[in-house]
Amino acid sequence: MTIRRARAQDVSIIQALLQDTWKDAYGDHLSQETLDEVYKNWQSIDFLNKQVQNPEVYFPIAVENDRIVGLATTRLTENIITLFRLYVLPTSQRKGIGQLLLEDVMSHYPDARRMQLHVETFNPKGLAFYNKNGFKEIKREQEKVGNETIEQILMEKEML
Ligand SMILES: CC(C)(COP(=O)(O)OP(=O)(O)OC[C@H]1O[C@@H](n2cnc3c(N)ncnc32)[C@H](O)[C@@H]1OP(=O)(O)O)[C@@H](O)C(=O)NCCC(=O)NCCS
Repeated sequence: MTIRRARAQDVSIIQALLQDTWKDAYGDHLSQETLDEVYKNWQSIDFLNKQVQNPEVYFPIAVENDRIVGLATTRLTENIITLFRLYVLPTSQRKGIGQLLLEDVMSHYPDARRMQLHVETFNPKGLAFYNKNGFKEIKREQEKVGNETIEQILMEKEML
């Protein structure tokens, strides 16, 4: 398993990984219309290309036998890391890949004071993972996606 920064030529495989993982994690909770809205806005080739090429975004991918099996997307603002995404292919989950990616992100920002992320209230895998890693709930927020309102939890971990 290696972790390296995503490149422009990885973007179409990254898109496929995001769509498979999203459908697996949220397909039972969100309508197809909402899933399509997410694919169109936050998982489009154009949007992903911009993130991969933006030097302010750190976008590590986990590669196993030449196959992308996981990824994270992060940014540092005022010494706070925002973890926008942490995704591991459904068939590769629970093998420590999420943990490796999280540790890679923390070591990428040695001076960060804390890390923050949003996780959906109906995402037990994500909640279990972040609780295990010492993240604490800060507050609950409603986000409108398509025609649905999703409840998310803002979680935070102190790092220094
Ligand atoms: C959340 C996610 C990234 C975790 O990645 P992963 O590679 O499967 O997790 P790891 O194998 O590194 O797990 C580390 C620890 O987290 C906890 N954990 C992870 N998945 C879990 C699950 N399904 N049920 C219970 N605990 C879980 C466990 O404590 C685990 O340690 P253990 O296996 O020694 O018990 C992965 O499930 C995923 O991609 N889910 C869909 C997308 C998502 O929800 N992302 C996070 C919100 S943005």
